[in-house]
Amino acid sequence: MDTMKKKLLWGAFVIALVIAASGYGIHEEIKEDELKIGVSLYIEDDAFVNSIVSSMQTQAMLYEQKVDKKVMLNIACADGSQRQQNKQIEKYIALQYDVICVNLVDRTNAATLIDQVKAADIPLIFFNREPVKEDIFRQEDVYYVGTDSKETAKKQGQAVAELYEKYADIMDKNKDGVLQYVILEGEMGHQDTELRCEYVLQTLAEAGIALEKLDTDTADWLYTPAEAIMEEWAREFGNDIELVLSNNDEMALGAIDALKQANISAAVFGIDATPAGKEAVRKGEMWATVDCDAEQQGKTLLDMATALIENKITEKEGIKEGRYIRVPVTALISENIK
Ligand code: GAL
Repeated sequence: MDTMKKKLLWGAFVIALVIAASGYGIHEEIKEDELKIGVSLYIEDDAFVNSIVSSMQTQAMLYEQKVDKKVMLNIACADGSQRQQNKQIEKYIALQYDVICVNLVDRTNAATLIDQVKAADIPLIFFNREPVKEDIFRQEDVYYVGTDSKETAKKQGQAVAELYEKYADIMDKNKDGVLQYVILEGEMGHQDTELRCEYVLQTLAEAGIALEKLDTDTADWLYTPAEAIMEEWAREFGNDIELVLSNNDEMALGAIDALKQANISAAVFGIDATPAGKEAVRKGEMWATVDCDAEQQGKTLLDMATALIENKITEKEGIKEGRYIRVPVTALISENIK
């Protein structure tokens, strides 16, 4: 096909998408001198993802002041539907966004989306929900910003080991030399769920801690289902529960409240360091969390987006395999354990 024909076809495609996009509640004028960054989130009410987004918003404001240009950071939520997310991305393409940042609904199914964005020649940054490697490397200008899930799990395990050394008498309530535990898991199929469960247990085994599993269940990263699961476990296992390993803070907070209601004391460990998680660690209700640095993740995302817009991505340091940026994580241990 000659170039002219290609251009005409592409133009028609864009017009069609603008029309389609207007059906999704987005009516925008295209302003030439504005930088446009489109974000699509898997759901609206994920506490940790929302902390990343608020950091992006702060960074966007700072960047606006620095370059004296308007930055339009559009945040859309997909309500757990990949179909809806695809539509949102089509809209960003139609409106000629400069960069698109995606918090995937279905992390195993990104190929079509990647090809579509690539066809429009727009750089793509995934974050927090990591696509499989083949998808990341399918096209040029596809990146991922997140953490190292294995490292995060190890930090949680090390925090448990460190506190067990100090507080064995409080943790091992029945004094049998074994910690009876439950695990609250994140969403099935999420990279963090799989790796956090596997490596926290491996780290504890390496530290020589004897463990006995009472049960595990998934609460999809959320407070309310976690609270309900813990209510059930409290009825079933009562005071036998000594250790709660939660894949994130929100679920740990749900567990803490259910344990309080049931009048059971147990050592609860989270991951993320959300504002509520940090507060629970400060009060000694959560024994430790792992700070996944939402602020730094948001900063990195904005920084990558603007580097891509300015064509300066090759100058960025710390991009592994040319595609991955993993923000360092640190354990946050309570000093108020009673
Ligand atoms: C994890 C985080 C969870 C949740 C999830 C969503 O990294 O620990 O709290 O935000 O991502 O994908």
